[in-house]
Amino acid sequence: MQVNIPLKKVVDNSYDIFIDEIEKISFDTKVAIITNPKVAGLHLGYLLSKLSAKELYIITVPDGEEYKNQESIDIILESLFNHRFNRKSLLIAFGGGVIGDMTGYVSSIYQRGIDFIQIPTTLLSQVDASVGGKTGMNNSYGKNLIGAFHQPKAVYIDPYFLTTLPQREFGAGVAEIVKMAVTFNKDFFEFLENADLTDSVVLQDAIKRAVQTKADVVAQDEREHGIRAALNYGHTFGHVIENETKYKKYLHGEAVAIGMVMANKTSQKLNLMSEEEVKRVEKLLQKYNLPTTYDIDSVDTFYETFFLDKKSSDTKITFILPVGLGDVKITDAIDAKVIKDVLTSYEN
Ligand SMILES: NC(=O)c1ccc[n+]([C@@H]2O[C@H](COP(=O)([O-])OP(=O)(O)OC[C@H]3O[C@@H](n4cnc5c(N)ncnc54)[C@H](O)[C@@H]3O)[C@@H](O)[C@H]2O)c1
Repeated sequence: MQVNIPLKKVVDNSYDIFIDEIEKISFDTKVAIITNPKVAGLHLGYLLSKLSAKELYIITVPDGEEYKNQESIDIILESLFNHRFNRKSLLIAFGGGVIGDMTGYVSSIYQRGIDFIQIPTTLLSQVDASVGGKTGMNNSYGKNLIGAFHQPKAVYIDPYFLTTLPQREFGAGVAEIVKMAVTFNKDFFEFLENADLTDSVVLQDAIKRAVQTKADVVAQDEREHGIRAALNYGHTFGHVIENETKYKKYLHGEAVAIGMVMANKTSQKLNLMSEEEVKRVEKLLQKYNLPTTYDIDSVDTFYETFFLDKKSSDTKITFILPVGLGDVKITDAIDAKVIKDVLTSYEN
């Protein structure tokens, strides 16, 4: 005997990303804004002046990557049950990527899935984390190991929030912008070389271009079976650096900046990138005070740590290597010697 469930449903998860001053929005439903004390202190008043809802609740969780965990998820869930949120209710992620990832994750599991929207407040979350529907949290085994693909209903990117962002956090966001340009769009890279991102008009344009690039990639490969993995350019090396420095010395975007340079040098060794192109990327990163070098104690230990990356298997490491500027190659067939030669040039 056999029973078949025909489930070939085509779901339209399309949504819009608005990049401008937030206009007044009103919701005919119960809404919870999920945020942290820092973002709330700086910007909740502004946001509340723009929003109205049938019922509106504010849920705060502690600030920081170390709180992107089950405890914070439980705080949010508890509050939603307490206030009798139902399947028609809506969550708003109001903060950086940490808040965005957790809010998205809660909305993917609360009563098997409710709607949420993203209002990202860091540059990194505006150009990267808020777009594309990857949600999740960390546990003791590593970062983002628990999560779901759950797309927001809309993303509202208001560059005004960035006026209070510390310079280092701004730089970390620039690293992710450079990532998109190097991997997918040479024109965008050249625009960035000549741009002054401290100018708000230019910055808004750069955000739009980065978001458009990410949106195009996600539209082609939502679940990261192929090309979306290219957005991990710089991350294979960067994760090892974060791991070795115990997530304390560098912001994620800073480790990615160093990782991108390491990936570029690998590309150069394989004749995929010229020395001049490698230098141009370094120069662009340095313009925003991003680190581009790192002291490696042991090449072998650094290499072994690659295997902890969730993009790698037990025997193969996936590398994202630029091909010139604006193109990219995803490969797990790079000879260990090539990588170790690159790493040796960083040995102290
Ligand atoms: N889902 C994805 O596709 C994706 C992509 C990239 C990164 N991420 C995740 O994003 C997280 C990193 O995001 P992040 O860099 O935004 O970090 P974050 O959320 O920790 O924010 C950085 C700091 O800036 C503060 N902050 C936020 N907005 C501010 C503002 N307007 N002014 C002043 N301070 C402000 C935050 O409270 C925090 O202290 C990581 O957890 C990473 O895994 C997810």
